[in-house]
Amino acid sequence: MLFPDYRGRRLRQNEAFRRMVRETRLSVDDLILPLFAIGGKNIKNPIPSMPGHFQLSIDHLLKTVSEARDLGIPSIILFGIPDKKDAFGTRASARDGIVQRAVSAIKDKVPGIAVITDVCLCQYTDHGHCGIVDKGIIDNDPTLDLLASIALSHVKAGADMVAPSDMMDGRVAAIREALDDNGHVNTPIMSYAAKYCSAYYGPFREAAHSAPQFGDRRTYQMDPANSLEAIREVTMDIEEGADIIMVKPALPYLDVICRVRDEIDLPIAAYNVSGEYSMIKAAEQMKWINGAQVMMETLTAIKRAGADMILTYFALEAAKELRK
Ligand code: PBG
Ligand code: ZN
Repeated sequence: MLFPDYRGRRLRQNEAFRRMVRETRLSVDDLILPLFAIGGKNIKNPIPSMPGHFQLSIDHLLKTVSEARDLGIPSIILFGIPDKKDAFGTRASARDGIVQRAVSAIKDKVPGIAVITDVCLCQYTDHGHCGIVDKGIIDNDPTLDLLASIALSHVKAGADMVAPSDMMDGRVAAIREALDDNGHVNTPIMSYAAKYCSAYYGPFREAAHSAPQFGDRRTYQMDPANSLEAIREVTMDIEEGADIIMVKPALPYLDVICRVRDEIDLPIAAYNVSGEYSMIKAAEQMKWINGAQVMMETLTAIKRAGADMILTYFALEAAKELRK
């Protein structure tokens, strides 16, 4: 069909028609809100590079989680900022660790919202890497036991789902085995499967105090230039028992989301990471863009690319926007 028989504008002329032919719909059901838990009481430390986000002590955390629940957001993902760090990230799996205490408080006080926990070592190790370090090398295999025990400790505290973000080889299998051996056969794993070595994590590392103290994460996180490799990573994690697979970051990797969608039939999560959030917030503060509109356009684009769910610091704002 060619012009003038076909006129694309016919179905764009009013909002009713536009709604009828809209292909992608963002819903509050798609949103996962990341939150940062810290020890102490009545603490709400603003994260300068992430306006609207805070390191929250458990009392404040509970308020934010209920707000999310009341807006209809189905789940949050928790990151912990521990009181102490050491070479092996011991506090990551402690029964009285920050994430473990936060999870049990939320499960106790705020029913009706799922709690996912991020499983990693980098906030808990003094060197800031996501695995154990031996002579300057991130040592894969000995790290697996630690990751499995962190995940198990989260689930024992009440976590509904665990999300390993470390990018060690074999971690999904190790975590699945530890959960199953302890009777948690029904706890799903959302694996950060295609996680790129990205400068977009900058603001998060400020928020979570998790920047590597030497070197970088290039020996375990993926090279931004690769996408066939993403399929291998995703396939491996599925074979090891992942229930949901994640692509991270989201916006600079929409092609990867799309490619994974074509090849994989598991639910796909996309992580709209801290730097993606901060750039929009900064431009909004400069009055260079309309922040709310760019937010909705961005989240819709991530969904259009093929994501089933989006981890995003915009979750509360987007949920409010969707109610309008
Ligand atoms: C830790 C972790 C990171 C993020 C989630 N989990 C940072 C990193 O890998 O350095 C990034 C989240 C964000 O930037 O919003 N493994
Ligand atoms: Zn990490």
